[in-house]
Amino acid sequence: MISRFLIITDELSIQKTITDFFNTKNYHLAIEKSGKSGLKRFLPFHFDIILIDLDLSDIKTESIIKDIRKQDPDVIIIVMTSEGSIQSVSELFKIGINHYILKPFAIEELFYSVNNLLINKKIQEENIKLKKNLTEIYHPAGLVGESKSMKEIYEKIIQVANHDVSVLIQGESGTGKEIVARTIHFSSHRNDKPFYAINCGAIPSELLESEMFGHKKGAFTGAINDRKGIFEEASGSTLFLDEINEMPLNLQPKLLRVLQEKKIKRIGDNKEIETDFRIIAASSRNLKHELDHNSFREDLFYRLNVITINIPPLRKRKDDIPLLIDHFIKKYKKLIKKESKGISKEALEKCLEYNWPGNIRELENFVQRTIVLARGKYILPEDIMFDARDDKTEPEGENVDKVDYKKAVKNALERIDRIYIQDALKKTNYNKIKAAKLLGISPRSLHYKIKNLFPDQLSKKY
Ligand SMILES: Nc1ncnc2c1ncn2[C@@H]1O[C@H](COP(=O)(O)OP(=O)(O)OP(=O)(O)O)[C@@H](O)[C@H]1O
Ligand SMILES: [Mg+2]
Repeated sequence: MISRFLIITDELSIQKTITDFFNTKNYHLAIEKSGKSGLKRFLPFHFDIILIDLDLSDIKTESIIKDIRKQDPDVIIIVMTSEGSIQSVSELFKIGINHYILKPFAIEELFYSVNNLLINKKIQEENIKLKKNLTEIYHPAGLVGESKSMKEIYEKIIQVANHDVSVLIQGESGTGKEIVARTIHFSSHRNDKPFYAINCGAIPSELLESEMFGHKKGAFTGAINDRKGIFEEASGSTLFLDEINEMPLNLQPKLLRVLQEKKIKRIGDNKEIETDFRIIAASSRNLKHELDHNSFREDLFYRLNVITINIPPLRKRKDDIPLLIDHFIKKYKKLIKKESKGISKEALEKCLEYNWPGNIRELENFVQRTIVLARGKYILPEDIMFDARDDKTEPEGENVDKVDYKKAVKNALERIDRIYIQDALKKTNYNKIKAAKLLGISPRSLHYKIKNLFPDQLSKKY
């Protein structure tokens, strides 16, 4: 990189030495003989570095430096001075010079000073840029966590944000897939546009196609107007396809085509419309395993999975729990308008022992509920109540795919049975015949279920 260097001195020998030496290096030189002409030259142009002779007679050097600093807070200012005027140099540092050099000097000395000052400046500028990037990354969506795995996620976010590559985010429910997707969007050059999201699992497949592609008036019953789909809406921005594993098989090749060609056709229309969105997909199941079950197309998988971000469950990064609790207390005490000074050590220990099957979403709800229920200003162990679900019946493994599926379904069904049976018994004042009728099962099977599901005191009571 060429640096622009302005030299202001009336000493011809200095002018010549500097010119001869610096002209052979990566510098673009400008030389002025007087303070006045130097200032004139400086103001309309941008210089990286200025060398001013303190012995100039035509103008007070101090006022030139002040003027230059006012115009450009970043330019490097060096003064050269003879021994006698050293007194005033300390004053000059106060008004913003960066360095001084005593006359006479060896040209190499000047060269290394200039070089080092430029390198330092560059490092400072990069630091500022980096810090700005970091605050932009952390700030808009408010990601919290200092664990090793969260730090790796931040790093990946920084790496991918400004490259328009597809990103696949995987993690159990409530681990923060959407907040990570938002953070990528708001850290990217597309951040002046809104973040678009569509949940492939929440929309019936017939509607999903029209939500994605839009339709032409009359394309199907109910299509009373032309409608833009989200692929078109999100052009220029980021589109988050949530629960991508739920995308119906018949729509998968259509999505693939859009990603390849960056063109769409609204349903019932032959016109091709160009679109340019960046795709971030999320799945709470390991998508690669879905390939084996033939419920996800391999070609689409590879198209989406240019970069993968795996968010580990909260139980695998428990060192983030205190930070997250703190974060949510701050957030919710304001919203709930209730004073909360924090969580006691014993209560925090209980939280660290718990497994958090619903991950950060569960922890967030927990904090919200606990602030409301807490009797004092601090959250104490007796204020704490974890989610009703039985922690022990939750999948133990790292990864949903390793869970004993049959056992998990059995546990889940039993949990539902327990809730309904208890409820029916209460409503019928513990009359088993009436309760069975209410539940739509025979009294005999109700009897069996009670025996199995409430083996302790409850079965005696019923
Ligand atoms: N690292 C984090 N820092 C702060 N808040 C977080 C973090 N991760 C998640 N959250 C919060 O937890 C909640 C759940 O996160 P999010 O909706 O992103 O999870 P998800 O993985 O998309 O869940 P689901 O699979 O259930 O849709 C949100 O309110 C989100 O703001
Ligand atoms: Mg989500």
